[in-house]
Amino acid sequence: MKQMAILCVDDEPTILYSLKEQLQDQFAQQYLIETAENAEEAFEVFEELQADHCDVALVISDCIMPGISGDELFKQIHQVAPNTLNILLTGQSSAQALVNAVNHAGLYRYVAKPWQKEDLILTVAGALEAYLKDKQLEEQNYLLQQQAIELREKNLRLLSLDQEKNDFLGIAAHDLKNPLAGILGIAELIQEDIAELSKKELLEYAAKIERASKQMFNLITNLLDVNKIESGNVKLSLQAIDLLPIVQQLVAEYHARAQAKQIDLKLIYDEKSYIAILDPSLVYQVLDNLISNAIKYSPLGKSVKVRLYQTEQHVSCEVQDEGVGFTSAEQQKLFHKFSRLSAKPTGGEHSTGLGLFIVKKLVDAMSANICCESDAGRGTKFIVTFPIA
Ligand SMILES: Nc1ncnc2c1ncn2[C@@H]1O[C@H](COP(=O)(O)OP(=O)(O)O)[C@@H](O)[C@H]1O
Ligand SMILES: [Mg+2]
Repeated sequence: MKQMAILCVDDEPTILYSLKEQLQDQFAQQYLIETAENAEEAFEVFEELQADHCDVALVISDCIMPGISGDELFKQIHQVAPNTLNILLTGQSSAQALVNAVNHAGLYRYVAKPWQKEDLILTVAGALEAYLKDKQLEEQNYLLQQQAIELREKNLRLLSLDQEKNDFLGIAAHDLKNPLAGILGIAELIQEDIAELSKKELLEYAAKIERASKQMFNLITNLLDVNKIESGNVKLSLQAIDLLPIVQQLVAEYHARAQAKQIDLKLIYDEKSYIAILDPSLVYQVLDNLISNAIKYSPLGKSVKVRLYQTEQHVSCEVQDEGVGFTSAEQQKLFHKFSRLSAKPTGGEHSTGLGLFIVKKLVDAMSANICCESDAGRGTKFIVTFPIA
């Protein structure tokens, strides 16, 4: 708790002395008892106390003093410290000063001179109690206001999350509806024309159903991944592991898909190990997305290079293509949810706009880093960097 003080002001040294003596007995344990012989000095003491972070709970002042009077002193203190209470000591009846002090300084009480010690103590004790209650109320009020601000902020955040969820559902539903409508259409066609359909046509329909189903399967897998990430359910198992076999496996798996688009998919590395701190299954998912994008957005006949390299502190994997790339304005949206940029799949593949969003989250989860360089029309290079073991 902050130090608190009572400030006594009287131009009569003997009165000031006895006032301090009487208060000291009763209140010195909790309060500093300070004195001043006139209002000017009282201001100085008051300011010093404030500068020392000491709350002046009460000012007790004589009314008529040379220079500034007691009621004027109260008025001026009241302007800077409205919570400080004041008690006016009145010698001869000084009605106008009382009126002033009540009207302009919220006078708490007055005590007529000469006073009885018991009266003074009771009045001062009452004032201090009122001061403390006020202070407590003010603190509670402040806390309540803070809580209200926090609640308002939380509410806004919830509203925006709710909106984001709605958008998310809307886009997901839309993306699921198209392939589903395709499947339904094919089912109707088969039912109507079954007698006339050749085996070849049936196989073509089956292939279309397969493609639409894969598209939906893909989207649902992505949605589940996003959900897992956003609800904090991604299990992270960081370990010192060689990145090379993971990349070799991925490149081998993409071989056929690249060949189908006459894309030359190359893995470039030195015969050594590339041990880094990473989570193997998350890395697999990250690089899978990057390589699949490189192939998906490359025109037929281009090349895609996957390159591993090591520096003093890091192991990096680079995926470079010769596709259409994107502008730096588009690049700002690259890792956003459902962001599909101007590059479109070149071989009829499906696009959800979720892959790179997932990639970024997984890279962040591993405390790895991802960056990309792209010139519109001249291809794209993604670089993922891991700290070495
Ligand atoms: N290698 C790339 N070259 C050009 N554009 C790309 C590349 N990778 C991603 N993009 C653009 O970024 C968008 C988002 O990619 P991504 O999040 O992986 O979703 P998806 O591949 O399902 O569309 C893509 O729609 C595409 O326009
Ligand atoms: Mg993708």
